[in-house]
Amino acid sequence: MQDLNELKVSINAIKDEIVNGVKELTNSKALYEFKKTFLDSKAGKINALMKEMKNIPNEMKAEFGKNVNELKTWAGEKFDELDVQMKEAESKQRYENEKIDITMPAVKCKCGKLHPVTQVRNQLIDVFGSMGFEVYDNFEIENEYYNLTALNIPQDHPARDMQDTFYLSPDYLLISQTSAAQIHVMENKKPPLKILSPGKVFRSDDDATHSPMFTQMEGLVVDKGITLCDLKGMLDLLVKKIFGEGTTTRLRPSYFPFTEPSVEVDVSCFECGGKGCRLCKGTGWIEVLGAGIVNKKVLENCGIDSEEYSGLAFGVGIERLAMLKYGINNIKLLYESDLRVLEQLDD
Ligand code: DAH
Repeated sequence: MQDLNELKVSINAIKDEIVNGVKELTNSKALYEFKKTFLDSKAGKINALMKEMKNIPNEMKAEFGKNVNELKTWAGEKFDELDVQMKEAESKQRYENEKIDITMPAVKCKCGKLHPVTQVRNQLIDVFGSMGFEVYDNFEIENEYYNLTALNIPQDHPARDMQDTFYLSPDYLLISQTSAAQIHVMENKKPPLKILSPGKVFRSDDDATHSPMFTQMEGLVVDKGITLCDLKGMLDLLVKKIFGEGTTTRLRPSYFPFTEPSVEVDVSCFECGGKGCRLCKGTGWIEVLGAGIVNKKVLENCGIDSEEYSGLAFGVGIERLAMLKYGINNIKLLYESDLRVLEQLDD
């Protein structure tokens, strides 16, 4: 470049280029890139003009510099002004896009909940926990001594047929009753004892109300002077918690090798209030669990003096309680994990 006229032509060309170029720009990012092609300190066209200064005669240098600086200021202001406008429009658009309609109904949140068997199990632990019972975890594989022999069911005793046990070997089996926990606890702790033992049990049994695997809860109290009255009082609390305040229990004579006397416990029908309905088969009572006073032989097997101490025990099928409570007639419904069923079963 040789003189100021030539410079003026270049300046006007750049101005035109800018004025026309910005018309094509649609967002601030493009504007930023466009601006760089003029004002970038290395590659910008306006800065390139300034570098021409060395070719200009000295007396024109001041004028030349002034003109280029004016262009620079003009362009800078133009770009800044456009940048503000574009950014404003963009954030307006963003707010528009992200607008929340607070009058819209909320999306229903699906909450998980505990399985009905776990709910009933926890309710039992609550009732007995409040009476000072401790929870003892069962083994699922046992030596047959704990599951049978020590519970006064010796080899060849007809009571072995009461439960169809799964044997893993001649000595080891899958526990068929949580009663096995009684022996472990009495062997390892000195009375007074109050334990609850929930766990899975296994029997070769399979129909609408029985499953090869189900859940039981064993209760055991050993102390001085324990009687059937204590048992009845505790079980009354249990049925009130599970089936409602208006329910009570009745004890009927029964037989279990590990209790003497043994009782079958019925709950007054929570469906008809005892008048008689289909659920209680017209009797007003529903059988819920087995219980009794711990057989002296069982206490002695565990080294507890049966003259000094007595005990009460009970064993309850948790699925049975859940089925009665929720009106389910097939135990398999509790294991199929069908949400359409499980979602209906809640307190
Ligand atoms: N173990 C028995 C069963 O599985 C239930 C039972 C009955 C447990 C009487 C007890 C009891 O502790 O005293 O059928």
